[in-house]
Amino acid sequence: MSVPVLTFFNNKGGVGKTSLVFHLAWMLSEMGKRVVTIDLDPQANLTSAFLSEETLEELWNINDFSERNNTIYQCVRPLTEVGDILPPQTQEINSHLHLVPGDLALAGFEDFLSQEWLSAMGSTSLYRPFRIVTSFWQVAQMAAEQHGADIILADVGPNLGAINRSALIATDDVVIPLAADLFSLQGLRNLGPTLLRWRADWKKRVDNWASPAFALPIGNIQPVGYVLMQHSERLSRPVKSYKKWADRIPSTYRESVLNQALSQKFDGDCLAKLKHYRSLVPMAQEVHKPIFQLTPADGAIGSHAAAVASAWSDFNGLAIAILERIERMT
Ligand SMILES: Nc1ncnc2c1ncn2[C@@H]1O[C@H](COP(=O)(O)OP(=O)(O)OP(=O)(O)O)[C@@H](O)[C@H]1O
Ligand SMILES: [Mg+2]
Repeated sequence: MSVPVLTFFNNKGGVGKTSLVFHLAWMLSEMGKRVVTIDLDPQANLTSAFLSEETLEELWNINDFSERNNTIYQCVRPLTEVGDILPPQTQEINSHLHLVPGDLALAGFEDFLSQEWLSAMGSTSLYRPFRIVTSFWQVAQMAAEQHGADIILADVGPNLGAINRSALIATDDVVIPLAADLFSLQGLRNLGPTLLRWRADWKKRVDNWASPAFALPIGNIQPVGYVLMQHSERLSRPVKSYKKWADRIPSTYRESVLNQALSQKFDGDCLAKLKHYRSLVPMAQEVHKPIFQLTPADGAIGSHAAAVASAWSDFNGLAIAILERIERMT
């Protein structure tokens, strides 16, 4: 049995994907779940949210040419020559939370994935193309097995390229963070059909390989719902303009992502509306902690302490909503 993969995805940049993965990974681990989180964005922002600069310097040491397995790229790199995937050396964040670190060098894997996606359909020998296009899933599953994980959380970059296609076919459930603006709505209109196409294209490939030589992801890419991130709202923006875009989200999500018409007034797809956490954000980033774990020693005093408690409720509620829906859908 494979461990379910939950990915946070929107091809619109800066909507708060990484921030959500970071906070929910922490929250789920606090709730007693065993979590593996994997950074599949070559910007590696999730990795730098979790780890100190000193650790990053060690992980990304470009002068070390030995065979390493301490980032996602190092684990899949042997595939670009004649080798196979290396089981990952993860970073322990807490006893219930482990990270497969990202790597800026992962960007160099994009073209390779693109070619192998085509070979996974037409080639006479399917072993290697399938090994390569499913390599992110294989590494994530190896990490999950090492730590007895209940769930894998994946962070990806803001585009519809081959790295993200491999990340999404490795995905069971997808949450879409978005903002109430024109760009997010336009993004949704591209995202929905792309997810449908990737799902169908992956199914075609799996059906075409009569007797697979190793386990493959199912690639359900099941949409769980969206999270409306309010931090990207400009304070100067008129309330009317926010409302105009926010009102259009439920039907655009239904039509573009679920391929259905919104039949009722009640919007059941919104998992949460997350507010702007203001000065708590840099305070938490400084100490590599989630906002809801800030203490007076970190500077969270007075009204900040109340805001920390309220952030805990926000993320706890969101984690529960996501888990409930995933369970209902399986
Ligand atoms: N709820 C929030 N309140 C305040 N600031 C936030 C909140 N969520 C995210 N941010 C900030 O918004 C910025 C963008 O967030 P983040 O990096 O998570 O987005 P992203 O979607 O992962 O971006 P990219 O597309 O580049 O990967 C960051 O500076 C982050 O700290
Ligand atoms: Mg990000």
